[in-house]
Amino acid sequence: MKVMVVGGGGREHALIKEIKKNPRVDHIYAVPGNGGIAKDAECVPISAEDLEGIVEFTRKNQVDFAVVAPDDPLVMGLVDLLKAEGIPCFGPDKKAAIIEGSKAFSKDLMKRYGIPTAEYETFTDMDAALKYVKTCDIPVVVKADGLAKGKGVLICMTREDAVHAVKSMMEDKEFGDSGLTVVIEEFLTGPEVSVLSFTDGKTLIPMISSMDHKRALDGDQGLNTGGMGTVAPNPYYTPEIAEIAEQEIFLPTMLAMNKEGRSFSGCLYFGLMITDKGPKVIEYNCRFGDPETQVVLPLLDSDLFDILEHVANGTLADADVRFAEDEAACCVVYATKGYPGSYGKGFPIEIPDDIDTVYVAGAKLSEDGKLLSNGGRVLGITERGKTLEEAIAKAYASVEKITFDEGFYRHDIGQKALAALK
Ligand code: AMP
Ligand code: GLY
Repeated sequence: MKVMVVGGGGREHALIKEIKKNPRVDHIYAVPGNGGIAKDAECVPISAEDLEGIVEFTRKNQVDFAVVAPDDPLVMGLVDLLKAEGIPCFGPDKKAAIIEGSKAFSKDLMKRYGIPTAEYETFTDMDAALKYVKTCDIPVVVKADGLAKGKGVLICMTREDAVHAVKSMMEDKEFGDSGLTVVIEEFLTGPEVSVLSFTDGKTLIPMISSMDHKRALDGDQGLNTGGMGTVAPNPYYTPEIAEIAEQEIFLPTMLAMNKEGRSFSGCLYFGLMITDKGPKVIEYNCRFGDPETQVVLPLLDSDLFDILEHVANGTLADADVRFAEDEAACCVVYATKGYPGSYGKGFPIEIPDDIDTVYVAGAKLSEDGKLLSNGGRVLGITERGKTLEEAIAKAYASVEKITFDEGFYRHDIGQKALAALK
């Protein structure tokens, strides 16, 4: 079978490495992929957001199954277009992807169906939003309604910050049309847990839980990033919390989407905060998380491609989904100095052959086949261990074997989780 994976980051590299293990898969196209993915798939230089270009490509090349991984093409409706071409797809259609594409939609959904989340108000009028932040509790969280490359959430510790956040979105249009509607939300506290799930709209199977590390520097200092590392499982996600989350959040969300005529098929991602009043939804994503996928998939003990097919066929109840619940994984992200601010590109990277699990996020190949950095987050180095401690130690041992002079990484990925275990 020929499988097309849309996207070109570390998450897509992790998906491709797993999909490749299925003996029925004999060719993978990565659209666009990257210089590191090129080792594992045929990269096709079409942007993941060029929907027409992708459809054209599938007309000229045999594609038996498609996996659409990033948020933008999902929210833009790539799955609808591919299905219209008769291609089975893993990923939600446009109607269902709105659960990530519009925070106003997802907040209203949770309110209507009693799914626990932060209190909020939605505004399309800037004066009304400004009036609201003059009296609301502080800190407060201001969110752009639409997709904003992961940057549209502003945690405001003062009233001035909140006023500035509203103006930056609604007046200066810093996030384009995504910020014309804003959600202003109660600030919650507690440990965060990411839970990805497989669902075909009838069955929902949570994957092993994970923990992201969003800040750029050790000790959760520095700016917010797309994620500097992950560990799985997340020790804050106890069996008791998992039971509550499944009954009060996961299944009700699946059923709510069905009732709305927006049945969700694909990977539904729950970003949870474990508050003292129980788990609450911080965000939904309509796709695999990045870099959560880089620790979740290495702990999958059954066949990913079989599961993806079952989801696409609506037969997830028959799938074999097994995770190594008693083991752990750690992913350390190697980023370019300067990230998430400005950074250079084209710096050489050397990865010794004895490191197996390096997911390449932002790199290209030079003309003579050398790997060069080509983004902010460049590599994700994952190791699996019998314990979290072992996974962390192995991941850092691998990181230290890599040469990337212009790179940096956090030294404390997993330490918070280790402390919580003790
Ligand atoms: P998001 O892009 O929605 O994942 O938000 C980015 C980050 O902002 C989350 O991972 C949380 O750390 C934080 N955040 C979002 N909403 C809230 C909230 N209501 N209270 C506290 N922190 C939040
Ligand atoms: N790691 C969070 C996300 O993928 O949105």
